[in-house]
Amino acid sequence: MSRQVCAACGREYAETDPRLQCECGGLLELRHDRSSLSGAKLRALFGSRAFVSGVWRYREMVLPTAGDDVVTYPEGNTPLLRRPTVTAWAGATDLWLKHEGHNPTGSFKDRGMTVGLTHARRIGATAVACASTGNTGAALGAYAALAGLPALAFVPKGHVALGKLTQLVAYGVRTLLVRGNFDACLELAYASADGLGVYLLNSINPFRLEGQKTIVFELLQQLDWEPPDWIVVPAGNLGNTAAFGKALAEARDWGLISRLPRIAAIQAEGAAPFALSYREGFARRHQVEPQTVASAIRIGNPASYERAVRAIRETDGVVTTVSDADILEAKAVIDAAGAGCEPASAASVAGTRRLIREGIIGAGARVVAVLTGHLLKDPESVTQYSPNRPIEIEPRLADVERVLAKK
Ligand code: F0G
Repeated sequence: MSRQVCAACGREYAETDPRLQCECGGLLELRHDRSSLSGAKLRALFGSRAFVSGVWRYREMVLPTAGDDVVTYPEGNTPLLRRPTVTAWAGATDLWLKHEGHNPTGSFKDRGMTVGLTHARRIGATAVACASTGNTGAALGAYAALAGLPALAFVPKGHVALGKLTQLVAYGVRTLLVRGNFDACLELAYASADGLGVYLLNSINPFRLEGQKTIVFELLQQLDWEPPDWIVVPAGNLGNTAAFGKALAEARDWGLISRLPRIAAIQAEGAAPFALSYREGFARRHQVEPQTVASAIRIGNPASYERAVRAIRETDGVVTTVSDADILEAKAVIDAAGAGCEPASAASVAGTRRLIREGIIGAGARVVAVLTGHLLKDPESVTQYSPNRPIEIEPRLADVERVLAKK
């Protein structure tokens, strides 16, 4: 039996209870009964499902009651990459890049949405909504289209990257450009869910996080279930940080791994309320006016704060910050390696470099840095900052020779 449990007070609700939060205001999370299979049997079972969705391959740990009627693109099955120039730039020796930009809509959000829309359909939702810096809305749009449901997104006007806005429009999402930041959008989304009866699919929704856990399951499987020393992840609204902590604890409890990697959550310096709290031993929650070039993580009041604190504590994790300049430098290296990612994603590699320089991550450690979104999500961040400029010429060989002669 699966059920929803309040992360704050422990109260339990049925799996299909549509409420968004506990009566006490706490966020809900899903608990599934542990499979009767041993860790070794589960590993073999997951291994035998090579060709299904990289989310539903782990269905016993994601949504065992889903049955076969799932809303799937399919998603996941993203590559774990070695890029020597990125490894060298970070000062690492054993760095892997888990490239979630290879999901169908170009970000890890698809992993959460396949579960979110599957559940939305189960409970008979008639419309779905989210607040978003762009990627959640894009994933919502694609999966709502698959499920045949109308979708609504609240996005911060002027702070959504072009690729994402394009997807919102193309997938037919009713897109509201809110004159305010992401945090204001999220408040408005909460109010709309209450007042208008739309089903909210932000990462406070526990079904989203069940899907996002599979980033961790999949990278562990790709490493033959030999856990890395660190998993480094960009942190904004803290859904992923929370999902990663839950995934690791469950992977250990279900016998898939015997040792927990440490989580490093990386925030942009100008949008770092979680890092502020971490420095104070999580004594209190902070809220800031966010400012960063990495628009995906331009968030000042992260919703999954409590759950993310637990993830950091349980994995002996750390939280740190990187400057916009470091993010753009890391991004340029990742891009030039042919991998490419959007600015927020590069925070994981910039954060890896910082933590290695500070001796927190050992130089010989095995590190998996998660690249959360695709390069083409934010083309303007390249055209604005890359020193590599296209050169206009006449259709004449002489012009080509002239350009190539220049150093
Ligand atoms: N990287 C990318 C590319 C994102 O889109 C996001 C969040 C994050 C990192 C941060 O993850 O919120 O789980 O800590 N994007 C959300 C959105 C806010 O609306 O697309 P988080």
